[in-house]
Amino acid sequence: MPVFDSRISQALEKRQQEELTRHLFAFEKGNTTTIISKDRHYVNFSSNDYLGLAADPELALAWQEGLDIYGCGSGASPLVTGFSHAHLKLEQALCDWLEYDRAILFSSGFSANQALLFSLMKKGDLLIQDKLNHASLMEAGSLCPATMKRFRHGDTAHLNTLFDEAASSLVVTEGVFSMDGDQSPLKQIEQACQNKAWLAVDDAHGIGVLGVDGRGSTFHQGIKPQILVVTFGKAFGLSGAAILCSEQVGDYLTQFSRHHVYSTAIPPAQAHALHHSLTMIKTQHWRREKLDELQSAYSEKLQGIDGYIDTQTPIKPLIIGKTESALICAELLRQKGFWATAIRQPTVPKGQARIRITLTANHTVAQVNSLCNSILYAMEKVQQ
Ligand SMILES: Cc1ncc(COP(=O)(O)O)c(C=O)c1O
Repeated sequence: MPVFDSRISQALEKRQQEELTRHLFAFEKGNTTTIISKDRHYVNFSSNDYLGLAADPELALAWQEGLDIYGCGSGASPLVTGFSHAHLKLEQALCDWLEYDRAILFSSGFSANQALLFSLMKKGDLLIQDKLNHASLMEAGSLCPATMKRFRHGDTAHLNTLFDEAASSLVVTEGVFSMDGDQSPLKQIEQACQNKAWLAVDDAHGIGVLGVDGRGSTFHQGIKPQILVVTFGKAFGLSGAAILCSEQVGDYLTQFSRHHVYSTAIPPAQAHALHHSLTMIKTQHWRREKLDELQSAYSEKLQGIDGYIDTQTPIKPLIIGKTESALICAELLRQKGFWATAIRQPTVPKGQARIRITLTANHTVAQVNSLCNSILYAMEKVQQ
Protein backbone atom coordinates (compact mmCIF):
# COMPACT_ATOMS: atom_id res chain seq x y z
CA MET A 1 0.00 0.00 0.00
CA PRO A 2 1.30 3.50 -0.74
CA VAL A 3 2.35 5.37 2.41
CA PHE A 4 1.41 8.77 1.01
CA ASP A 5 -1.49 9.38 3.43
CA SER A 6 0.57 8.84 6.56
CA ARG A 7 3.58 10.67 5.13
CA ILE A 8 1.45 13.69 4.27
CA SER A 9 -0.38 13.85 7.59
CA GLN A 10 2.88 13.49 9.56
CA ALA A 11 4.51 16.29 7.59
CA LEU A 12 1.53 18.60 8.05
CA GLU A 13 1.33 17.81 11.76
CA LYS A 14 5.04 18.51 12.24
CA ARG A 15 4.68 21.86 10.45
CA GLN A 16 1.79 22.75 12.71
CA GLN A 17 3.66 21.77 15.90
CA GLU A 18 6.66 23.88 14.89
CA GLU A 19 4.36 26.85 14.14
CA LEU A 20 5.64 26.82 10.58
CA THR A 21 2.36 26.28 8.75
CA ARG A 22 1.88 28.77 5.91
CA HIS A 23 -1.52 30.16 4.97
CA LEU A 24 -2.96 31.39 1.72
CA PHE A 25 -4.81 34.69 1.93
CA ALA A 26 -7.09 35.61 -0.94
CA PHE A 27 -7.08 39.37 -1.31
CA GLU A 28 -10.13 40.94 -2.83
CA LYS A 29 -8.41 43.16 -5.37
CA GLY A 30 -5.00 43.35 -6.99
CA ASN A 31 -1.63 43.70 -5.32
CA THR A 32 -2.00 47.41 -4.65
CA THR A 33 -0.74 49.56 -1.78
CA THR A 34 -3.96 48.88 0.11
CA ILE A 35 -5.05 45.27 0.18
CA ILE A 36 -8.37 43.95 1.42
CA SER A 37 -8.80 40.69 3.30
CA LYS A 38 -12.11 39.68 4.86
CA ASP A 39 -13.43 43.24 4.49
CA ARG A 40 -10.47 44.78 6.33
CA HIS A 41 -8.07 47.16 4.62
CA TYR A 42 -4.32 46.91 5.17
CA VAL A 43 -1.40 48.94 3.87
CA ASN A 44 0.64 46.36 2.02
CA PHE A 45 4.30 46.28 3.08
CA SER A 46 4.90 42.76 1.76
CA SER A 47 4.90 42.92 -2.01
CA ASN A 48 7.93 42.86 -4.29
CA ASP A 49 6.31 45.41 -6.55
CA TYR A 50 9.15 47.83 -5.73
CA LEU A 51 8.40 50.39 -8.43
CA GLY A 52 4.63 50.22 -7.95
CA LEU A 53 3.95 48.97 -11.48
CA ALA A 54 1.85 45.85 -10.79
CA ALA A 55 -1.45 47.73 -10.74
CA ASP A 56 -0.41 50.77 -12.75
CA PRO A 57 -3.13 51.80 -15.27
CA GLU A 58 -0.52 52.64 -17.92
CA LEU A 59 0.90 49.13 -17.72
CA ALA A 60 -2.56 47.56 -17.67
CA LEU A 61 -3.32 49.47 -20.86
CA ALA A 62 -0.17 48.09 -22.48
CA TRP A 63 -1.30 44.54 -21.63
CA GLN A 64 -4.74 45.29 -23.09
CA GLU A 65 -3.09 46.61 -26.24
CA GLY A 66 -1.08 43.37 -26.39
CA LEU A 67 -4.29 41.36 -26.10
CA ASP A 68 -5.79 43.30 -29.01
CA ILE A 69 -2.78 42.61 -31.19
CA TYR A 70 -1.86 39.05 -30.19
CA GLY A 71 -4.86 37.50 -28.41
CA CYS A 72 -4.50 35.57 -25.16
CA GLY A 73 -2.18 32.58 -25.05
CA SER A 74 1.05 31.89 -26.93
CA GLY A 75 -0.37 28.51 -27.92
CA ALA A 76 2.89 26.58 -27.94
CA SER A 77 6.44 26.35 -26.66
CA PRO A 78 8.89 28.86 -28.19
CA LEU A 79 10.50 26.42 -30.63
CA VAL A 80 7.13 25.29 -31.98
CA THR A 81 4.95 28.34 -32.71
CA GLY A 82 4.86 30.11 -29.32
CA PHE A 83 7.48 32.76 -30.14
CA SER A 84 6.10 36.03 -31.52
CA HIS A 85 7.31 39.47 -32.53
CA ALA A 86 6.37 40.63 -29.02
CA HIS A 87 8.79 38.08 -27.52
CA LEU A 88 11.51 39.03 -29.99
CA LYS A 89 11.11 42.76 -29.34
CA LEU A 90 11.29 42.16 -25.59
CA GLU A 91 14.45 40.07 -25.93
CA GLN A 92 16.09 42.74 -28.09
CA ALA A 93 15.12 45.55 -25.73
CA LEU A 94 16.58 43.62 -22.77
CA CYS A 95 19.82 43.01 -24.71
CA ASP A 96 20.15 46.70 -25.61
CA TRP A 97 19.43 47.80 -22.06
CA LEU A 98 21.68 45.35 -20.27
CA GLU A 99 24.37 45.11 -22.99
CA TYR A 100 24.26 41.40 -23.71
CA ASP A 101 24.06 39.62 -27.06
CA ARG A 102 21.18 37.37 -26.12
CA ALA A 103 18.19 37.21 -23.78
CA ILE A 104 16.28 33.94 -23.39
CA LEU A 105 12.79 34.20 -21.89
CA PHE A 106 11.29 31.91 -19.24
CA SER A 107 7.90 31.82 -17.58
CA SER A 108 9.37 32.38 -14.11
CA GLY A 109 12.61 33.14 -12.32
CA PHE A 110 12.36 29.75 -10.64
CA SER A 111 12.38 27.97 -14.00
CA ALA A 112 15.12 30.23 -15.41
CA ASN A 113 17.44 29.37 -12.53
CA GLN A 114 16.66 25.67 -12.75
CA ALA A 115 17.09 25.71 -16.55
CA LEU A 116 20.46 27.42 -16.24
CA LEU A 117 21.97 25.02 -13.71
CA PHE A 118 20.45 21.84 -15.16
CA SER A 119 21.59 22.58 -18.70
CA LEU A 120 25.03 24.00 -17.91
CA MET A 121 26.37 21.86 -15.07
CA LYS A 122 27.70 18.36 -15.74
CA LYS A 123 29.28 15.63 -13.62
CA GLY A 124 32.75 16.68 -12.42
CA ASP A 125 31.90 20.40 -12.61
CA LEU A 126 31.97 22.63 -9.55
CA LEU A 127 29.08 24.87 -8.60
CA ILE A 128 29.80 27.42 -5.86
CA GLN A 129 26.88 29.30 -4.40
CA ASP A 130 26.40 31.98 -1.76
CA LYS A 131 24.86 30.24 1.22
CA LEU A 132 21.79 32.49 1.17
CA ASN A 133 20.93 32.05 -2.52
CA HIS A 134 17.28 31.54 -3.40
CA ALA A 135 15.61 28.13 -3.09
CA SER A 136 15.39 27.78 -6.90
CA LEU A 137 19.19 27.94 -7.14
CA MET A 138 19.85 25.76 -4.11
CA GLU A 139 17.44 23.08 -5.23
CA ALA A 140 18.82 22.97 -8.76
CA GLY A 141 22.32 22.92 -7.32
CA SER A 142 21.56 19.89 -5.14
CA LEU A 143 19.84 18.00 -7.94
CA CYS A 144 22.24 18.72 -10.82
CA PRO A 145 25.16 16.34 -11.44
CA ALA A 146 27.87 18.87 -10.47
CA THR A 147 29.50 19.07 -7.05
CA MET A 148 28.00 21.95 -5.09
CA LYS A 149 29.86 23.97 -2.47
CA ARG A 150 28.48 26.96 -0.60
CA PHE A 151 30.44 29.99 0.58
CA ARG A 152 29.59 31.99 3.69
CA HIS A 153 27.19 34.77 2.84
CA GLY A 154 28.99 37.53 0.95
CA ASP A 155 32.38 36.22 2.14
CA THR A 156 34.84 36.47 -0.75
CA ALA A 157 37.74 35.19 1.36
CA HIS A 158 35.81 31.97 1.97
CA LEU A 159 34.82 31.77 -1.70
CA ASN A 160 38.50 31.97 -2.62
CA THR A 161 39.23 28.79 -0.65
CA LEU A 162 36.63 26.75 -2.54
CA PHE A 163 37.90 26.90 -6.12
CA ASP A 164 39.22 23.80 -7.80
CA GLU A 165 41.12 24.80 -10.91
CA ALA A 166 40.76 21.30 -12.38
CA ALA A 167 36.98 21.58 -12.54
CA SER A 168 34.79 23.74 -14.78
CA SER A 169 33.36 26.08 -12.19
CA LEU A 170 30.37 28.37 -11.93
CA VAL A 171 29.89 30.83 -9.07
CA VAL A 172 26.32 31.94 -8.44
CA THR A 173 25.12 34.78 -6.25
CA GLU A 174 22.10 36.98 -5.97
CA GLY A 175 22.65 40.69 -6.62
CA VAL A 176 20.34 41.73 -3.77
CA PHE A 177 19.41 39.06 -1.24
CA SER A 178 15.70 38.57 -1.05
CA MET A 179 15.29 38.00 2.68
CA ASP A 180 18.09 40.28 3.93
CA GLY A 181 18.00 43.15 1.44
CA ASP A 182 21.80 43.41 1.41
CA GLN A 183 23.94 43.49 -1.71
CA SER A 184 26.49 40.95 -2.82
CA PRO A 185 30.10 42.24 -3.09
CA LEU A 186 29.96 41.68 -6.84
CA LYS A 187 33.17 43.48 -7.71
CA GLN A 188 35.22 41.28 -5.38
CA ILE A 189 33.40 38.14 -6.49
CA GLU A 190 34.04 38.94 -10.13
CA GLN A 191 37.73 39.43 -9.33
CA ALA A 192 37.83 36.12 -7.44
CA CYS A 193 36.34 34.35 -10.45
CA GLN A 194 38.92 35.76 -12.88
CA ASN A 195 40.29 32.88 -15.01
CA LYS A 196 38.85 30.35 -12.54
CA ALA A 197 35.11 30.37 -12.96
CA TRP A 198 32.16 31.84 -14.75
CA LEU A 199 29.93 34.09 -12.70
CA ALA A 200 26.11 34.06 -12.75
CA VAL A 201 24.16 36.79 -10.95
CA ASP A 202 20.47 36.40 -10.15
CA ASP A 203 19.32 40.01 -9.92
CA ALA A 204 15.65 39.35 -9.17
CA HIS A 205 15.59 42.07 -6.50
CA GLY A 206 18.08 44.55 -7.96
CA ILE A 207 16.81 44.92 -11.52
CA GLY A 208 14.73 48.06 -12.02
CA VAL A 209 15.67 49.36 -8.58
CA LEU A 210 19.45 49.86 -8.53
CA GLY A 211 21.86 51.41 -11.02
CA VAL A 212 21.44 54.08 -13.66
CA ASP A 213 18.00 53.76 -15.30
CA GLY A 214 17.33 50.75 -13.06
CA ARG A 215 19.82 48.49 -14.82
CA GLY A 216 20.38 46.61 -11.61
CA SER A 217 23.13 45.41 -9.31
CA THR A 218 25.70 44.56 -11.95
CA PHE A 219 25.70 48.06 -13.45
CA HIS A 220 25.46 49.56 -9.97
CA GLN A 221 28.68 47.79 -9.00
CA GLY A 222 30.33 48.00 -12.42
CA ILE A 223 30.63 44.33 -13.35
CA LYS A 224 29.54 42.16 -16.25
CA PRO A 225 28.98 38.51 -15.34
CA GLN A 226 28.88 35.81 -18.02
CA ILE A 227 25.26 35.11 -17.01
CA LEU A 228 22.67 37.52 -15.67
CA VAL A 229 19.22 36.37 -14.59
CA VAL A 230 16.50 39.02 -14.34
CA THR A 231 12.96 38.34 -13.22
CA PHE A 232 9.78 40.20 -14.08
CA GLY A 233 7.64 39.44 -11.02
CA LYS A 234 9.16 42.18 -8.88
CA ALA A 235 10.11 45.66 -10.15
CA PHE A 236 8.68 44.90 -13.62
CA GLY A 237 5.25 44.44 -12.01
CA LEU A 238 4.42 41.35 -14.08
CA SER A 239 5.95 37.87 -14.15
CA GLY A 240 8.45 35.80 -16.11
CA ALA A 241 12.23 36.00 -16.40
CA ALA A 242 15.15 36.18 -18.79
CA ILE A 243 18.69 34.87 -18.90
CA LEU A 244 21.09 37.39 -20.44
CA CYS A 245 24.19 35.85 -21.99
CA SER A 246 26.50 35.58 -25.01
CA GLU A 247 25.34 34.52 -28.47
CA GLN A 248 26.70 31.01 -27.98
CA VAL A 249 25.21 30.47 -24.52
CA GLY A 250 21.91 31.76 -25.93
CA ASP A 251 22.06 29.17 -28.71
CA TYR A 252 22.90 26.47 -26.17
CA LEU A 253 20.00 27.37 -23.84
CA THR A 254 17.63 27.54 -26.80
CA GLN A 255 18.59 23.98 -27.73
CA PHE A 256 19.07 22.34 -24.36
CA SER A 257 17.30 24.14 -21.52
CA ARG A 258 14.25 21.98 -20.97
CA HIS A 259 12.25 24.67 -19.16
CA HIS A 260 12.48 26.72 -22.36
CA VAL A 261 12.08 23.97 -24.91
CA TYR A 262 9.24 22.02 -23.32
CA SER A 263 7.17 24.77 -21.74
CA THR A 264 4.52 27.03 -23.26
CA ALA A 265 5.94 30.47 -24.02
CA ILE A 266 4.62 33.37 -21.94
CA PRO A 267 1.57 35.00 -23.58
CA PRO A 268 2.66 37.46 -26.29
CA ALA A 269 0.43 40.13 -24.72
CA GLN A 270 2.47 39.71 -21.53
CA ALA A 271 5.72 40.09 -23.51
CA HIS A 272 4.22 43.24 -25.06
CA ALA A 273 3.38 44.57 -21.58
CA LEU A 274 6.87 43.65 -20.33
CA HIS A 275 8.37 45.70 -23.13
CA HIS A 276 6.29 48.64 -21.96
CA SER A 277 7.24 48.01 -18.35
CA LEU A 278 10.89 48.18 -19.38
CA THR A 279 10.26 51.61 -20.94
CA MET A 280 8.58 52.79 -17.74
CA ILE A 281 11.49 51.49 -15.65
CA LYS A 282 14.03 53.28 -17.85
CA THR A 283 12.23 56.60 -18.03
CA GLN A 284 10.22 57.04 -14.82
CA HIS A 285 13.10 57.95 -12.54
CA TRP A 286 10.72 59.37 -9.95
CA ARG A 287 9.92 55.82 -8.84
CA ARG A 288 13.49 55.15 -7.72
CA GLU A 289 13.77 58.64 -6.24
CA LYS A 290 10.59 58.00 -4.26
CA LEU A 291 12.06 54.77 -2.91
CA ASP A 292 15.13 56.71 -1.73
CA GLU A 293 12.87 59.15 0.10
CA LEU A 294 10.90 56.35 1.76
CA GLN A 295 14.07 54.53 2.77
CA SER A 296 15.38 57.64 4.48
CA ALA A 297 12.10 58.03 6.38
CA TYR A 298 12.22 54.36 7.45
CA SER A 299 15.80 54.43 8.69
CA GLU A 300 15.39 57.78 10.41
CA LYS A 301 12.57 56.32 12.50
CA LEU A 302 13.93 52.87 13.27
CA GLN A 303 17.72 53.04 13.14
CA GLY A 304 19.16 51.62 16.33
CA ILE A 305 16.18 49.58 17.54
CA ASP A 306 16.65 45.86 18.22
CA GLY A 307 16.38 43.83 15.03
CA TYR A 308 16.83 46.80 12.68
CA ILE A 309 19.06 46.06 9.69
CA ASP A 310 20.38 48.90 7.58
CA THR A 311 19.95 48.21 3.86
CA GLN A 312 20.31 50.34 0.73
CA THR A 313 17.43 48.55 -0.99
CA PRO A 314 13.63 48.55 -0.50
CA ILE A 315 13.90 45.25 1.41
CA LYS A 316 13.92 45.98 5.15
CA PRO A 317 14.25 42.93 7.38
CA LEU A 318 13.36 43.29 11.03
CA ILE A 319 15.01 40.39 12.80
CA ILE A 320 12.93 39.00 15.64
CA GLY A 321 14.52 35.59 16.30
CA LYS A 322 11.86 33.21 17.55
CA THR A 323 9.16 32.01 15.16
CA GLU A 324 6.40 32.59 17.69
CA SER A 325 7.50 36.17 18.37
CA ALA A 326 7.65 36.97 14.65
CA LEU A 327 4.10 35.68 14.23
CA ILE A 328 2.89 37.78 17.16
CA CYS A 329 4.64 40.86 15.77
CA ALA A 330 3.01 40.36 12.33
CA GLU A 331 -0.38 39.97 14.01
CA LEU A 332 0.10 43.16 16.06
CA LEU A 333 0.98 45.03 12.86
CA ARG A 334 -2.12 43.63 11.16
CA GLN A 335 -4.22 44.88 14.06
CA LYS A 336 -2.79 48.33 13.34
CA GLY A 337 -3.69 48.01 9.64
CA PHE A 338 -0.32 46.96 8.16
CA TRP A 339 0.37 43.78 6.22
CA ALA A 340 3.98 42.74 6.82
CA THR A 341 4.67 39.03 6.57
CA ALA A 342 6.55 36.99 9.16
CA ILE A 343 9.26 34.96 7.45
CA ARG A 344 10.26 31.74 9.16
CA GLN A 345 12.45 28.70 8.57
CA PRO A 346 13.09 27.08 6.18
CA THR A 347 12.95 30.32 4.17
CA VAL A 348 15.42 31.84 6.66
CA PRO A 349 17.74 29.99 9.09
CA LYS A 350 16.35 28.78 12.42
CA GLY A 351 16.41 31.48 15.10
CA GLN A 352 16.33 34.27 12.52
CA ALA A 353 12.59 34.64 12.03
CA ARG A 354 11.79 38.13 10.87
CA ILE A 355 9.29 40.56 9.52
CA ARG A 356 10.19 41.26 5.90
CA ILE A 357 9.12 44.81 5.13
CA THR A 358 9.24 45.98 1.55
CA LEU A 359 8.83 49.54 0.36
CA THR A 360 7.28 50.42 -2.97
CA ALA A 361 7.17 53.66 -4.97
CA ASN A 362 3.44 53.87 -4.28
CA HIS A 363 3.80 54.20 -0.51
CA THR A 364 3.70 57.64 1.07
CA VAL A 365 6.13 58.95 3.67
CA ALA A 366 3.16 59.24 6.03
CA GLN A 367 2.40 55.52 5.59
CA VAL A 368 6.03 54.61 6.27
CA ASN A 369 6.12 56.81 9.38
CA SER A 370 2.92 55.27 10.60
CA LEU A 371 4.24 51.74 9.96
CA CYS A 372 7.39 52.61 11.93
CA ASN A 373 5.34 53.81 14.90
CA SER A 374 3.44 50.53 14.85
CA ILE A 375 6.68 48.57 14.61
CA LEU A 376 7.99 50.36 17.72
CA TYR A 377 4.76 49.47 19.54
CA ALA A 378 4.80 45.83 18.35
CA MET A 379 8.48 45.30 19.17
CA GLU A 380 7.95 46.61 22.69
CA LYS A 381 5.04 44.20 23.18
CA VAL A 382 6.97 41.24 21.73
CA GLN A 383 9.97 41.93 23.99
CA GLN A 384 7.88 42.16 27.17
C1 LIG B 1 16.46 35.74 -5.85
C2 LIG B 1 15.27 35.12 -6.51
N1 LIG B 1 15.45 34.41 -7.63
C3 LIG B 1 14.42 33.83 -8.25
C4 LIG B 1 13.13 33.92 -7.77
C5 LIG B 1 12.01 33.25 -8.47
O1 LIG B 1 11.42 34.15 -9.34
P1 LIG B 1 9.91 33.94 -9.80
O2 LIG B 1 9.06 34.44 -8.70
O3 LIG B 1 9.81 34.72 -11.06
O4 LIG B 1 9.74 32.47 -10.03
C6 LIG B 1 12.89 34.67 -6.62
C7 LIG B 1 11.51 34.79 -6.11
O5 LIG B 1 11.20 35.31 -5.10
C8 LIG B 1 13.98 35.27 -5.96
O6 LIG B 1 13.81 35.97 -4.84
